[in-house]
Amino acid sequence: MDRLMAAALWVRENASSRYSGFKVGAALEEAGGRIHTGCNVENATYGLTVCAERVAVFKAISEGARNFRRIVVAAGGKRLASPCGPCRQILWEFCGNIEVILLNPSGDSRVLSLADLLPEPFDENVFR
Ligand code: THU
Repeated sequence: MDRLMAAALWVRENASSRYSGFKVGAALEEAGGRIHTGCNVENATYGLTVCAERVAVFKAISEGARNFRRIVVAAGGKRLASPCGPCRQILWEFCGNIEVILLNPSGDSRVLSLADLLPEPFDENVFR
């Protein structure tokens, strides 16, 4: 297991997921190798919950990072969990067509590209 996978599994343990009981960890890697992590943070309103992937992206952006190459999304469940629709859009906006690695705590994984997950995306190229 590489260190990006280890980081996603580690941060997953910090999930604030008392309503769903579903813990997610994300580890986003810069082109230069630096890692930014995020876990899901739930809210009593439910709707204000923020997914692990978006926490990782926004933490990274606010640290000044701009160039990304991979993200690992670690979760439990019956099948490997992939990013929700809004997270795919946010990932596309800030990371482009990065590699997306789905992982579970047993170490099962699958590698996809973001373009696989978000075909024909809406982005600035549509109106620029
Ligand atoms: N969740 C994520 O963190 N990432 C996803 O891509 C899908 C869902 C979180 C949100 C919520 O806290 C829990 O998983 C159940 O939906």
